Amino acid sequence: MSGAAGALQARVLGQFRASHGGAPALVVQAPGRVNLIGEHTDYNDGYVLPCAIGYRTLVAARPRADTLVRVAAADCGGAVDSFDLADDPLPHAAAPWADYVRGMAWAMRDAGHALRGADLAIAGDVPQGSGLSSSASLQVAVGQAFKSLQGLDALDPTALARLAQRAENDFVGCRCGIMDQLISARGVAGHALLIDCRSLEATPVPLPRDVAVLIVESRISRGLVDSEYNRRREQCEAAARHCSVAALRDLDLASLEAGAAGLEATTLRRARHVVTENARTLAAAQALAAGDLDRVGRLMAASHASMRDDFEITLPAIDRLVDILANTIGTAGGARMTGGGFGGCVVALLPEERVEAARAAVQAQYRSPAGEPARVHLCRAGAGAGLV
Ligand code: GLA
Repeated sequence: MSGAAGALQARVLGQFRASHGGAPALVVQAPGRVNLIGEHTDYNDGYVLPCAIGYRTLVAARPRADTLVRVAAADCGGAVDSFDLADDPLPHAAAPWADYVRGMAWAMRDAGHALRGADLAIAGDVPQGSGLSSSASLQVAVGQAFKSLQGLDALDPTALARLAQRAENDFVGCRCGIMDQLISARGVAGHALLIDCRSLEATPVPLPRDVAVLIVESRISRGLVDSEYNRRREQCEAAARHCSVAALRDLDLASLEAGAAGLEATTLRRARHVVTENARTLAAAQALAAGDLDRVGRLMAASHASMRDDFEITLPAIDRLVDILANTIGTAGGARMTGGGFGGCVVALLPEERVEAARAAVQAQYRSPAGEPARVHLCRAGAGAGLV
């Protein structure tokens, strides 16, 4: 176990003891994620290529004899939320973090799982508000805790991810796709997953051994995310309806252009991003598996340009950060913004021996609009949720 993993585990156990007394029956974890390519494609039934990362949410859990759930958050000063699983409807919590916990319990109960009460403690090290899916990892970890406590073996990782997405969509109120929850539940160590977001089939794609995954936090916390996210989603759905297909996944560039007459110009550009991004994602999975980092890098550059020009979800400072990394990496890999957009992180793939040069270039050349330096994380693709 690495030092950071040991410290996180000590923190969740300490919080459990302080809030509930004694020791938990078990500890589970679920990771955050970084998406290598395939952005805003998941809710269009398309393709994504994320990997789970070493930053995780841990949940320590012990069953109770009643229907109460008492949950303490180490990262919120030990704040405690309590709710009763017998309450119908389940009320919302005052604190946003607690709503993710309640939402997950709500979704599991609504799907017919007879949940029993539990004492829970939570601690995580996924950077929050940076687009690395700290909330999905929290929801999946809470689901995994109930699953493990009660031996809900029929609930496979895909089913757990769907329930976590349902919690986010219908309890928390964000219309996100399935990518974040699915990679958190199903990540494979050393691999990215090529996920078909229609069938939910996931194909592990090995990351070449000497290739590093670098995550660079722009330090611009994501503004306008929910409203802009939901607007993009509506535009995509409108374009699909206009072209008489179930989802943009069902179009290639030629069929989009053929059906584009009468489609408003902005909506057409949104659709063009999704359609071309699906093609890039499939190509990138192939190139990565073949170890062709030059091609992967060119696809990442095209993905970023498409997010900037057609989908309009990047910011000038993020574009600059991508340029700094791309210039340092050259043809040996690539960089692009990752996640929902409007701030957050840039992801880079590059040979391990170039990591220090990339770090130095970012340190020397980048400041956020508020004058902050970027934070750089060197990541390994990790496994999905499970017992610790
Ligand atoms: C957020 C959502 C995902 C996905 C990405 C964009 O992370 O939660 O479902 O849509 O944005 O690719």
